[in-house]
Amino acid sequence: MESTRVPCIHLVAGARPNFMKIAPIVRALQADGRLRWKLVHTGQHYDRNMSDVFFEELGIPAPDVHFNCGGGSHAAQTARVMEAFEAHVAADRPDAVLVVGDVNSTLACAVVAKKAGIPVAHVEAGLRSGDMGMPEEINRIVTDSISDWFFVTEPSGVAHLKREGQPDGRIFHVGHVMVDNVVYQAERLTTAETGGFGTDAVKRQLGRYGVVTLHRPSNVDDPATLAPIAGALKTISARLPLVFPVHPRTRGTLERLGLTLGPNIHLLDPQPYMAFLHLWKDAALVLTDSGGLQEETTALGVPCVTIRDNTERPITVEEGTNVLAGTAPERIVELALAAIDHPAAQRRRPALWDGKAAGRIVSLLAERLA
Ligand code: UD1
Repeated sequence: MESTRVPCIHLVAGARPNFMKIAPIVRALQADGRLRWKLVHTGQHYDRNMSDVFFEELGIPAPDVHFNCGGGSHAAQTARVMEAFEAHVAADRPDAVLVVGDVNSTLACAVVAKKAGIPVAHVEAGLRSGDMGMPEEINRIVTDSISDWFFVTEPSGVAHLKREGQPDGRIFHVGHVMVDNVVYQAERLTTAETGGFGTDAVKRQLGRYGVVTLHRPSNVDDPATLAPIAGALKTISARLPLVFPVHPRTRGTLERLGLTLGPNIHLLDPQPYMAFLHLWKDAALVLTDSGGLQEETTALGVPCVTIRDNTERPITVEEGTNVLAGTAPERIVELALAAIDHPAAQRRRPALWDGKAAGRIVSLLAERLA
């Protein structure tokens, strides 16, 4: 009797914000059982605290393939990933490739797979900031222009994809795998031993505090932008002490400029996922330019001030706890102090942000690849 062949999907992870999206997809694949899968790590992020610790903590199995393509300019990094992934799919032909988010590895592997005639599933499709100065916006648009299946986190994503001419039957509003992960990990944290976390001592010492993350090139590469933002953070820290795990890109600029942030801003190295969650979930305020943290704070009801002029995640402002401050220091201070003095009541968690998005994605893929 002829045995049925089980389709195999290759999952691509490259940079830090990919790992928390891949973890729930791996769990859902294991639970569903209808698909085989392999995990490809492009190596875009390569420091232990930007990559390996996430695999260990989030329970992601070791990658089947690792390319070590990190560092360098956008073009150099993207080109290295494309070359390596092209050789990979030629040798080990998957039935589909799944990419997540909007980093350079997402774009590189989507384009290579599509040219090799392999269907591409894009998780977190359809988001648009309208800001072509953001490398991620270019990555999102290019990836979506050639993807076959679009897994979307919020209604704005569906609207953008339809406007760009993508067929209804390929667009699936499934909710958010990033929220699957934060809900799952926050639950684990309730019984975890947290005393060893690098964030625990500062959390205990400060009691009430805010958390800062900054890494967007448009905010941190140019001293003319970073210096006023740093000034705003200093002003805020006189009212509420801030804890700031510093991304390597940001540390580079701070060191080059010799910028100091004052005694009320506690600088840390980039933190592992659980230690960071332990910190921000109880913060009075998060100040950030991250995409994912805007969503995670909405999921857990923590006030968030976003230091950007736009967001590709408008539902976090419409229904969640996020406000957009832009980068003018006066406005950042004004919105941060308002959030400290008058914390809003917990707002709504958006539709389908229920911790089950990865299961929906795997079911839809298994039906399509059967
Ligand atoms: C990338 C993503 C961004 C994501 C961010 C999260 C793109 C276009 N950008 O930006 O969307 O929000 O990751 O971190 O894909 N570096 C290290 N160690 C590392 C990784 C990076 O020192 O493990 C250094 C690099 O050498 C470089 C800088 O940090 O100088 C930036 O790294 P890069 O991967 O180019 O982009 P990110 O700014 O991290």
